[in-house]
Amino acid sequence: MEFAKLSVVLNLLCVVAGDSCSLELRPSRAVVRFGDPITVSCVASRPVRVLGWEAAVGAAHTQRDQTIQWGVDSLTDWIEEPICYGVFFTAPRQCEEKLHLILYKTPDSISISSLNQSGPMLEGRQYELQCEVQNIAPVQYLNLRWYRGQIEVYNHTFSELTPPSPVQVSSTLLITPSRADDGAQYRCMAELDLGPEGPQPPLNMTSQPLSVIVHYAPSFSGPSVEALEVKQGEEVRLNCTAEGNPPPVYSWSTPHSQEKLTAEPVLTSTTLPAGTYTCTASNKLGEQSKQFTIKLKP
Ligand SMILES: *[C@@H]1O[C@H](CO)[C@@H](O)[C@H](O)[C@H]1NC(C)=O
Ligand SMILES: *[C@@H]1O[C@H](CO)[C@@H](O)[C@H](O)[C@H]1NC(C)=O
Ligand SMILES: *[C@@H]1O[C@H](CO)[C@@H](O)[C@H](O)[C@H]1NC(C)=O
Ligand SMILES: *[C@@H]1O[C@H](CO)[C@@H](O)[C@H](O)[C@H]1NC(C)=O
Repeated sequence: MEFAKLSVVLNLLCVVAGDSCSLELRPSRAVVRFGDPITVSCVASRPVRVLGWEAAVGAAHTQRDQTIQWGVDSLTDWIEEPICYGVFFTAPRQCEEKLHLILYKTPDSISISSLNQSGPMLEGRQYELQCEVQNIAPVQYLNLRWYRGQIEVYNHTFSELTPPSPVQVSSTLLITPSRADDGAQYRCMAELDLGPEGPQPPLNMTSQPLSVIVHYAPSFSGPSVEALEVKQGEEVRLNCTAEGNPPPVYSWSTPHSQEKLTAEPVLTSTTLPAGTYTCTASNKLGEQSKQFTIKLKP
């Protein structure tokens, strides 16, 4: 109850304070694209001696009129917010109202790159991706969103920056790719959210995707030792398929033969003698071996 009463009192105070200026801007908040036209009216609610606009472009004043417009056909200056002022016959004799003006410009470009190097990344190492946005204003309304595929992985706002004119900004994302990231596409999107008076949905611009290639040493999904028992003349299939990037190359060996068996990942035969067969899957990052033992069923 106490809180409810207090907020009523505060509301009344606010209304009184707002009215005491006797000036109203229509609209009070303007969102304009750089180069577009704009018109704002300033209306006095009591007789006024002088009513005027103080602005870097389109400044104007009248005597005794209770309305004055500020406007330009094409706003092409990064001006400060215009102020409407009134000089009155009665107290308070002077007051002013600042227009909340948001002049915006969509970025010229947005791009994504790897700061370390271009080319394949190594599994488990850390890399830094950078997103760069050129010539955007006002940057405090920018929300930079990072995507991996369709999933948003990070967002970055710049609300602490205040320049009204266009700037270049960047955001970095640290990634530690795993093999599951091989082929993943990263993008970043600049979203300019100018509030309810601004364009809906908020303006956005997306970078070209950056495709990540992840290199990793070969590994087997199953056990690295396999024992098989077959009848004479039955087909055996030794599967040495390993996962690796670049794709592994394979070599097979067996103690009782010097000749190269095959360079395929899968060895299929009906004539393999019993014994131990070793397969090695290798690429430039490493190698893994798998052992097969063939026994003949009596
Ligand atoms: C990439 O760059 C970041 C920051 O400069 C560094 O921490 C990281 O170790 C680098 N990664 C590789 C694989 O060189
Ligand atoms: C930014 O990301 C955080 C989580 O990292 C999330 O909670 C928040 O809603 C995101 N902000 C926007 C504007 O999407
Ligand atoms: C980006 O802008 C387009 C065009 O206005 C809109 O259709 C789309 O929904 C926006 N995308 C996002 C993620 O806001
Ligand atoms: C070999 O094993 C892999 C998985 O380790 C499997 O994807 C593949 O289909 C197998 N190949 C044959 C010919 O059995």
